[in-house]
Amino acid sequence: MSHFSSEKSATVSFGLRGRVAIVTGGAQGIGEACARRFAREGAQVVIADMAEGPGQALAAELGALFVHCDVGDKTQVDALVASVMAMHGRIDILVNNAGIFKAADFLEVTEADFDAVLRVNLKGAFLVGQAVARAMARQPAHPGDGDSTSRGAIINMSSVNGTLAIPTIASYNVSKGGINQLTRVMSLALADHGIRVNAVAPGTIATELAAQAVLTSGDARQRILSRTPMKRLGQPSEIADVVAWLASDAASYVTGEIVVVDGGRMTLNYTVPV
Ligand SMILES: NC(=O)c1ccc[n+]([C@@H]2O[C@H](COP(=O)([O-])OP(=O)(O)OC[C@H]3O[C@@H](n4cnc5c(N)ncnc54)[C@H](O)[C@@H]3O)[C@@H](O)[C@H]2O)c1
Repeated sequence: MSHFSSEKSATVSFGLRGRVAIVTGGAQGIGEACARRFAREGAQVVIADMAEGPGQALAAELGALFVHCDVGDKTQVDALVASVMAMHGRIDILVNNAGIFKAADFLEVTEADFDAVLRVNLKGAFLVGQAVARAMARQPAHPGDGDSTSRGAIINMSSVNGTLAIPTIASYNVSKGGINQLTRVMSLALADHGIRVNAVAPGTIATELAAQAVLTSGDARQRILSRTPMKRLGQPSEIADVVAWLASDAASYVTGEIVVVDGGRMTLNYTVPV
């Protein structure tokens, strides 16, 4: 029996009222939780996703803007940024969250699957990150921001699989390792522009992706929990809370950092049953 509840009791506000926040892959899962978190803060939320139905429905519920966008397509990414600038005139926060997962024995990985995962998870974060950073670099600090040099915050969704490796997910492992380096490169390149860039590296979070990718049987679930000192899955809202903090002025001196949110998995050395 875990000592840690999955229910959240405290709700901290990070003062994001009026900030314009784009969440890619925001129609469901971790991205949806980020969109909900930002909306609760009073931010102007933009959900950028390929899933038209759920994306539109969530946007309507939250009073957000939905933009159909495949993050791997530069034309669509440029159109996304143009439409957000036309509607809101600025972009304060970007969460590069869209991601896909394909598993196969290493000897069976196809070129098409490898390309598909890298295209969405890594190139997508680069394309959206660059296009948004260009817009951020040209804008003044947010009026509510005490720091006149601060122009925006970008949060990339990594994974513990950006550091740890699993033999059957070469493309995913590589894409998330790439996200960690993209985060570091962007943080250095954009510091002079007043843009902070960080990543969040979740462990196993209860979403559709995890259900299909890793929580495929009771046995698989048990194996994951046995390597998770807190003995439970993470909730999407627990990732969203860390994203909201990184997006806020409460993290004003944090950049180039990869924040692990995994219930203790990365700290575990011996893989003894816990
Ligand atoms: N769930 C986990 O355990 C876990 C752990 C570590 C990291 N992550 C990462 O968190 C992110 C979100 O994962 P999730 O579990 O919420 O997944 P999910 O499958 O529940 O949601 C992903 C969303 O991304 C959208 N999407 C997919 N391809 C897209 C594209 N080309 N352009 C725009 N949107 C696209 C989907 O439509 C969907 O709404 C991913 O980057 C994933 O790698 C998840």
